[in-house]
Amino acid sequence: MHEEKLRELENWLKDYWRSFAGDDAEAGRNYALKELHTTKVRDNIRLLAESTGLSGDRLALAEIIGLLHDVGRFEQYRRHRTFYDSKSENHAALGVRVIRESRLLEGLTNEEADIILQAVGLHNVFRIPASVSGTHRLYLNLIRDADKLDIWRVFVDQSLLPDTEQASAANLDFPDLPECSAGVLECIGRREMVNLSLLRTVNDFRLLQLSWVFDLHFPVSFKLARERGDLARLGAMLPFSPEVERSLRTVWEFLGSRCS
Ligand SMILES: [Fe+2]
Repeated sequence: MHEEKLRELENWLKDYWRSFAGDDAEAGRNYALKELHTTKVRDNIRLLAESTGLSGDRLALAEIIGLLHDVGRFEQYRRHRTFYDSKSENHAALGVRVIRESRLLEGLTNEEADIILQAVGLHNVFRIPASVSGTHRLYLNLIRDADKLDIWRVFVDQSLLPDTEQASAANLDFPDLPECSAGVLECIGRREMVNLSLLRTVNDFRLLQLSWVFDLHFPVSFKLARERGDLARLGAMLPFSPEVERSLRTVWEFLGSRCS
């Protein structure tokens, strides 16, 4: 039954994305980045959800979350010309608002609507509140892993493009300086996720993304993170120093231990 809802939401999204088409070329590149990201995250969450044994409507629910998780990005960029939440507004909360105002969840049960709204609303929080449990937590973990797996791809792909073709908001405007901040490297040494507030440079942002391996939940996520190679490419973009090498070793060892 939710297959139908999925089709309906796919069509709605296409129209919604089209409504942003009139903006300038730079905006167009940033919207295109989020459109492709949405499609890939939907594919990722399907893979992960299947690996946990979800099927039928429960699987379609995961795909709906994948499709809607970043729906707030478009309005965020149009209003603020950035994807940096703390310099604009929380795109997850904005997404929840768009979903509600557009009445996208009609026809689903209250529980399903709750699961979707919570997964979208919390997909970007640093730490999941302890109060989120059971099925709600499962779907939230699924979207967070699926999202991370594709953000690695986005970031590597963008870095390989000439400046003029990059989506300007992808780097969150950090200066491309050679340094890595000590606080960021120390966080990785403790096998902890790096907080955005510690970042000063693009290299710090690369390290932050590498530290996301410490927050993956599903065996298939670790496997895909290693197989796809985006993390290795991300690591190769960092400047050489003993501290950076140590951080990279920590990340690879952690990933390896979860894949074996
Ligand atoms: Fe997001």
